[in-house]
Amino acid sequence: MNPGFILTMPEWDEIFSEKGRVFTEPHNDMKRIAELFRKGGVSRILDIGCGTGRHLVYLAKKGFQMFGFDSSQHAIDMSEEWLNEEGLVANIMKYRMEDSFPYEDMLFDAVISIQTIHHNRLQDIKNTVAEIERVLRPQGYIFITVPILSDEPVSPDNDWGLKEVEAGTYLPQKGPESGILHHYFTEEELLEVFSGFQITKMYIDETGHRCIFGTKN
Ligand SMILES: C[S@@+](CC[C@H](N)C(=O)[O-])C[C@H]1O[C@@H](n2cnc3c(N)ncnc32)[C@H](O)[C@@H]1O
Repeated sequence: MNPGFILTMPEWDEIFSEKGRVFTEPHNDMKRIAELFRKGGVSRILDIGCGTGRHLVYLAKKGFQMFGFDSSQHAIDMSEEWLNEEGLVANIMKYRMEDSFPYEDMLFDAVISIQTIHHNRLQDIKNTVAEIERVLRPQGYIFITVPILSDEPVSPDNDWGLKEVEAGTYLPQKGPESGILHHYFTEEELLEVFSGFQITKMYIDETGHRCIFGTKN
């Protein structure tokens, strides 16, 4: 990513410091995903862009060994606080997903990332996906969700003054995520970026995000 761009980019950090725990309930499908993980012998899970910790807490409570990172220090602090409140532990840190992950090869049985990996330009996203592949064990699981650009009246393209900065990547000029990069994948592009995985399910969830579930080839 262009370093000058990072310096001027407002971060999710500001959103969390103003609004606190933005997301409180786990993703609607997480119960089902956790059951699939358990049946698949999953123990160690990485949550990329863990935010304020809703999935760290939910999955740690179910007995999974949780790891996570997020570029927002406020998010990490709030995750830590929430885990402590529940008497749970997880291995979490402030880190950026476009950088080489600080984990050894094949450490994880599963990687989840909810509404996060799209917050970059495409080349940086490809770096993130290559790192997901590296840190997952063979046949390890992924559950990833990303937003879609739609024609609905309330869609971000109508309300956020989206400015295209490269093909498919936009910078909202207004709205709650103003100044934060959004890459909107087409279905084909998402499958291509995740071509190192067997995608067994792709669908739109109740919040209008495209979800993929699959395993590493
Ligand atoms: C929509 S929030 C989702 C948070 C969390 N996954 C959840 O579902 O509650 C997007 C998250 O991505 C994080 N994020 C944005 N850019 C990032 C980056 N380059 N590296 C790591 N995390 C990033 C933000 O700090 C924020 O926590």
